[in-house]
Amino acid sequence: SRTYKLAVIPGDGIGPEVTAQALKVLDLVAAEHGVAFDKTEFNLGAKRWHATGEVLPDAELASIRTHDAILLGAVGDPTVPSGTLERGLLLKLRFELDHYVNLRPSKIYPGVPTPLANPGVVDFVVVREGTEGPYVGNGGAIRVGTPQELATEVSVNTAFGVERVVRDAFARAQARPRKKLTLVHKNNVLVHAGHLWTRTVDAVATEFPDIAVDYLHVDAATIFLVTDPSRFDVIVTDNLFGDILTDLAAAVTGGIGVAASGNINPDGTAPSMFEPVHGSAPDIAGQSKADPTAAILSAALLLDHLGLPEAAAQINAAVESDIASRGTSPRSTEEVGEAIAARVAGGVAVG
Ligand code: NAD
Ligand code: IPM
Ligand code: MN
Repeated sequence: SRTYKLAVIPGDGIGPEVTAQALKVLDLVAAEHGVAFDKTEFNLGAKRWHATGEVLPDAELASIRTHDAILLGAVGDPTVPSGTLERGLLLKLRFELDHYVNLRPSKIYPGVPTPLANPGVVDFVVVREGTEGPYVGNGGAIRVGTPQELATEVSVNTAFGVERVVRDAFARAQARPRKKLTLVHKNNVLVHAGHLWTRTVDAVATEFPDIAVDYLHVDAATIFLVTDPSRFDVIVTDNLFGDILTDLAAAVTGGIGVAASGNINPDGTAPSMFEPVHGSAPDIAGQSKADPTAAILSAALLLDHLGLPEAAAQINAAVESDIASRGTSPRSTEEVGEAIAARVAGGVAVG
């Protein structure tokens, strides 16, 4: 039996609400698989910032690094200037811990509400680059607030950074039955970065002859995510395109309340971090209205990453069976968490 050190960052808004349910399910399933999580909770986010002005002190970052994995709820609050926590906490963690693979699976579970009439079998994963692109903060503004203001956000793409995420995406496609990879970019306009991505995919493709590779411009990709999502298997894309596409992917595959993600450091040089795709949802925070399913499925991704695929599958099966039996009457955050926990404890068949 092994004990894993887990850093928990509940964060803001609905973050603590959904994290509590994810931890409940995680502990339950861990016990059944003979492992345990030794948790350290980090008080980071809006409250901390208001109290001390701190966002992510170096000592806390150093402490987070000593953990085996991180579970995060959400960050961001309307009372804090936009970007302070998002950049200073969430993106800082992704960059400092070298989370270059932002893994965002999308799957239509039987019975889940979807706006699509005939979606077919939808089961794909977006491999979103996590450490480069327009997110690096390479920009600035001058003459701010004047009619002559000029603002830039320059996307940074390195051969090293693109190649490592593209390789990871090919390896994931190789491990999936359909063996298909779609590069999404905008190489008809963003010719510098776009051609680097296209050339890199073409080069790595020669090492993966059994992967079918195609390319879509990001605008067209949004069409197909709505009209024909079953065409996708693995999508590899830039940091910003991946952010936008995965909210859309969530919306068509059961909603933002069920979309999970992993910020993965595949080289193991720092802990990986698991979080729902959604944010702190200030509009419903404090009302027990948030669906904790995305956070719970993120805990499953965490287990998978730690090399506990059976434990992960047990959570996925419990979620699948909960979704299949969801009625139409609204349930609280705790009720959904309890229902999924009960299905874990009841030993839903892992199929
Ligand atoms: P959001 O994802 O927080 O909310 C968008 C909509 O989805 C809202 O109507 C919300 O009520 C709903 N929603 C989100 N999660 C839900 C859940 N689990 N169950 C039911 N409904 C849910 O996005 P936003 O409104 O653009 O951002 C709010 C704040 O969160 C901002 O500060 C933003 O920067 C931050 N944010 C953080 C993360 C993160 O921590 N990973 C991700 C996205 C946004
Ligand atoms: C997400 C969020 C973050 C992102 C923000 C809050 C920095 O939208 O995790 O999808 O843009 O990556
Ligand atoms: Mn997002």
